[in-house]
Amino acid sequence: MNSKEYQIAVIPGDGVGPEVTNEAIKVLKAAASKVGFTFRLIHYDFSGERYLRTKETLPDSVFEELKRMDAIFLGAVGDPRVEPGILEKGILLKLRFGLDQYINLRPVKLYPGVWTPLKDKGPEDIDFVVVRENTEGLYLGIGGFVKKDTPDEIAIQEMVNTRKGVERCVRYAFEYAKKRNKNKKVTLCDKANVLTYAHDLWRRVFRRVGEEYPEMEKDYAFVDAVCMWMVKNPEWFDVIVTCNMFGDIITDLGAMIQGGMGIAAGANINPEGVSMFEPIHGSAPKYAGKNVINPMAAICAMQMLLDVVGEKEAAKITEQAITTILASGKMKDLSTKSGLKTDEIGDMVADYIFKMS
Ligand code: IPM
Ligand code: MN
Repeated sequence: MNSKEYQIAVIPGDGVGPEVTNEAIKVLKAAASKVGFTFRLIHYDFSGERYLRTKETLPDSVFEELKRMDAIFLGAVGDPRVEPGILEKGILLKLRFGLDQYINLRPVKLYPGVWTPLKDKGPEDIDFVVVRENTEGLYLGIGGFVKKDTPDEIAIQEMVNTRKGVERCVRYAFEYAKKRNKNKKVTLCDKANVLTYAHDLWRRVFRRVGEEYPEMEKDYAFVDAVCMWMVKNPEWFDVIVTCNMFGDIITDLGAMIQGGMGIAAGANINPEGVSMFEPIHGSAPKYAGKNVINPMAAICAMQMLLDVVGEKEAAKITEQAITTILASGKMKDLSTKSGLKTDEIGDMVADYIFKMS
């Protein structure tokens, strides 16, 4: 029995966030009791609901508390009653930036038994990881308007790339590819043919850091071509490293080829600090409270949490439960039309873990 008690912050958030979070916690409980570790959940109600009530998104004071956590689990943010950007910037991005979670790790993995829209492609072809830079790029929110609301309006949004930020991201990608030990290949996804300053920096850093990894194959691909190849030849990829904006876009495409938003999970990682785990599907308000959303993405995010905090055995058995249940073919369709209820799916995974020998 591990004597450590993990302190895990839980932010269920908006829409379907609370429902899928419940199921992920069910699985966490099952894995913890099976393997023998303890944890304490500290709930926070940051959400659109709270914002509408208090006009507050995430108070600065909470960072001191969050910095003492072992991990954060986030359900989803986004509420149609709130103007776009307020909750995203005020909660999600504020957490990513404030806790310096500079990596957004997004596996694109087709599990056996799950349907992909790609013809003639299977689990052996669709298995790569996107390492998305998570604290810079177009996401910083630097910019402004001139002559707003006139025909001569100018809107500028700056793309920020620091050598330090790019380098730590690229190095993480090489280290990850080394540990992953699949094709030993890292692809830099950029637009260096147009962004001749920003992505020139990425290329130079990639080349320089790459020299420290002579055993790794290095590949360069423009983001538009990456979109094409993710559909045509996904088997070419092992680890893709890319900037914040491109990472956002290609991982939605990634989610589609791995069976949909119902399975896609991500980890916002600060390797030296506190990391945050989330399904990437967002709040899906029209399905909120209906018990139809598939919680697998949240369960996969919890699996990543277990792995990153160091509970390797718990992570392994959770992965095994996910794999076996999906391979049984009971859930080919991971959308809201799977015919299964949100809590049924959570129970299935948790029961499987409890019954494992
Ligand atoms: C994601 C989301 C966020 C992003 C939004 C909600 C700010 O789309 O996690 O991919 O763009 O990073
Ligand atoms: Mn996104």
